Amino acid sequence: MRKLHVKSYGCQMNVYDANRMTDLLTSDSSYVETGTLEEADLVILNTCHIREKAAEKVYSELGRIRQLKREATRAGRHLIVAVAGCVAQAEGEEIVRRAPVVDVVVGPQSYHRLPELLAQAEGGAKVVDTEFPIEDKFDHLAPASAATIHARGVTSFVTVQEGCDKFCTFCVVPYTRGAEASRPVAAIVAEVENLARAGVREVTLIGQNVNAYHGRAEDGSQATLGRLLKSLADVPGVLRLRYTTSHPRDVDEGLVAAHRDLAVLMPQLHLPVQSGSDRVLAAMNRRHTRAEYLDVVTRLRTVRPDIAFTSDFIVGFPGETEEDFIDTLRIVEDVGFAGAFSFKYSPRPGTPAADRGDQIADEVKRERLARLQERIDHHQRAFNRSCAGRKLEVLFEKPGRIAGQLVGRSAYLQPVQVMAPTSLISQIATVRISDVGSNSLFGELDRAEARDQALAGTGG
Ligand code: SAH
Ligand code: SF4
Ligand code: F3S
Repeated sequence: MRKLHVKSYGCQMNVYDANRMTDLLTSDSSYVETGTLEEADLVILNTCHIREKAAEKVYSELGRIRQLKREATRAGRHLIVAVAGCVAQAEGEEIVRRAPVVDVVVGPQSYHRLPELLAQAEGGAKVVDTEFPIEDKFDHLAPASAATIHARGVTSFVTVQEGCDKFCTFCVVPYTRGAEASRPVAAIVAEVENLARAGVREVTLIGQNVNAYHGRAEDGSQATLGRLLKSLADVPGVLRLRYTTSHPRDVDEGLVAAHRDLAVLMPQLHLPVQSGSDRVLAAMNRRHTRAEYLDVVTRLRTVRPDIAFTSDFIVGFPGETEEDFIDTLRIVEDVGFAGAFSFKYSPRPGTPAADRGDQIADEVKRERLARLQERIDHHQRAFNRSCAGRKLEVLFEKPGRIAGQLVGRSAYLQPVQVMAPTSLISQIATVRISDVGSNSLFGELDRAEARDQALAGTGG
């Protein structure tokens, strides 16, 4: 049987899409999955276009694959190379021109057509499919039906929304993922039920602007994300729900109420702010001010005081002054993020900010990024340290690096390493946090929990 190797870059949606492509191509036994690039007959690079570095990765990888293809051809094998994801959508045919090793270019809305496209490529054609659908944007999720969905562990992503209408002036996503669209509630509930039956205990709902969710409810009305979460809260077997990535503008009262009312909804929220300066936020077209962002944080903390916020930041957006940047440092102090990703602004072709004449020099970006990361790390360490001595609920996911150790996650998404029996995988246990590393927490099973486990172990 032919072997398939998929390599994903970028966001969680690419991980989800990679799994769906794998499910689709392996479900009728035309391919089996391999973790080894060198033995693959079909390589799919599932790419990301968000920053220049991300987009360039694909070309360096294609350089390596060109060598592999030569060797395969010499050995009489036909290695098919496909580029999927957001670089495929953004660059289309240009990819084949720049990297002739590529046989298939397929955009995120066309994955359901992969079998046909691959058949054409087998016949020697170069195939490019980056159409945006006119009808149902979620056709490409068709393989995520009850019959073919395939759980891959204790936690799983589920796409509920795709695309974005916000058009932040730095961002390619509205161009690569298209207009904002939501899946119907029933399709999502069915997928989550299937995953739960297959052993998934934690589900993260994903979308580029997930809290703009407005899918069709069972009664024909439009459901908000708050309502969707409520419909999923009772699915048997699902112990935890999360969602990402949210936009501060779209946090409505229903979502705040969901954090108040739903015990399965975890007290953790990735809510990118990008900048702390009103001037920069306006130039970014973020459609919210610093004060409005802080107000969203306060509203959520009022109903769920322990909620942990994380964020994304961009430094060196065109025209950003030292004063603007200081405002960004200040918002880190004001919120006390439990963690954050931060990036140097990267001009993306076709986005409005890329054409501005007041681009910031790279040294300035580098220097600001280092200062910002120092403050983010400080708050992340402080948050982790505040967990020392506390009892946290941990959902165990898999064995750790040391024999006898399991790794799980706290409600706040921190990795927690604990000596615990493998029987606890896919269960939640209370852990007393004894030690705090830079990224992970360490702890011991709570005494009552450990006693129950010992009893279970002796058959008592
Ligand atoms: N949908 C998410 C963002 C997806 S992209 C949201 O609305 O926040 C993930 C992160 O990449 C963004 O939050 C932003 O911080 C960063 N990013 C996006 N475009 C960028 C660019 N041109 N340069 C640098 N960072 C960028
Ligand atoms: Fe990009 Fe802005 Fe949409 Fe997020 S909200 S995906 S940053 S355009
Ligand atoms: Fe990258 Fe596309 Fe996701 S640009 S971040 S893979 S939506």
